[in-house]
Amino acid sequence: MLIACWSPKGGSGTTVIACGLAAVLARSAGSSGGALLADLAGDAASVLGVAEPTGPGLAQWLASGPDIGSAALTRLEMEAGAGLRLLAWKPAGPDVRPAAGRAEALVEALSGDPRAVVADCGAAASGAGLALAAGAEVSLLVLRPCYLALRRALAAPVRPSGVVLITESGRALGRRDVEDVLGVPVRAEVAIEEAVARAVDAGLLARRIPRSLERALRPLAGLRGAGQDAA
Ligand SMILES: Nc1ncnc2c1ncn2[C@@H]1O[C@H](COP(=O)(O)OP(=O)(O)OP(=O)(O)O)[C@@H](O)[C@H]1O
Ligand SMILES: [Mg+2]
Repeated sequence: MLIACWSPKGGSGTTVIACGLAAVLARSAGSSGGALLADLAGDAASVLGVAEPTGPGLAQWLASGPDIGSAALTRLEMEAGAGLRLLAWKPAGPDVRPAAGRAEALVEALSGDPRAVVADCGAAASGAGLALAAGAEVSLLVLRPCYLALRRALAAPVRPSGVVLITESGRALGRRDVEDVLGVPVRAEVAIEEAVARAVDAGLLARRIPRSLERALRPLAGLRGAGQDAA
């Protein structure tokens, strides 16, 4: 199962949700293969406390030709602890862009992986992140209850299968407003909390996931093929 996490606006909490969910899925998989996190946004290695790869990363794979297949993708995986493997992004250079058809090849490879796969697609405005957000079995929009974010979500080129609402005090918008405006169910609510921020800053989000975050993300671990449409 491939779960894509993306957001309409930078700084929404997408990387935290993607890393946290991948950690929850890796734990629940136990000895049966763990889980994989594919990073298309660039911050996952730091959040998981993993050194950046010395060799190529996912960006390089996307820039390669069709003869570089899913076996090469497997070779890029890194150990991230507690049953979690990471496909780190590692920028391939300012002029290196995904080659034609590679984003679709990545969707196919990750969708066919027998493990639970979570992709951090970042703002998913274009390119491979957008292809994954549109093509994943489960497409999760990570959203702050903010009018500006909601407006952007409404105009996004992909209709998600669910919303992960990042709740914080002092916001006028709530779960019902988001569901009414977007017509998409809120699948989880995650509070802004000191323990989460500290775990991120220490690179310990997966190895020592705060219990409140784990609890909030657990409903997402049971999601299957809710489906989404390109708008
Ligand atoms: N639930 C939370 N509790 C506390 N802090 C959080 C939470 N979620 C996110 N943050 C903090 O908010 C900031 C942005 O989070 P994050 O990097 O996950 O957002 P993003 O959407 O991935 O951003 P970008 O667009 O830069 O990729 C980080 O400092 C992170 O630690
Ligand atoms: Mg991010």
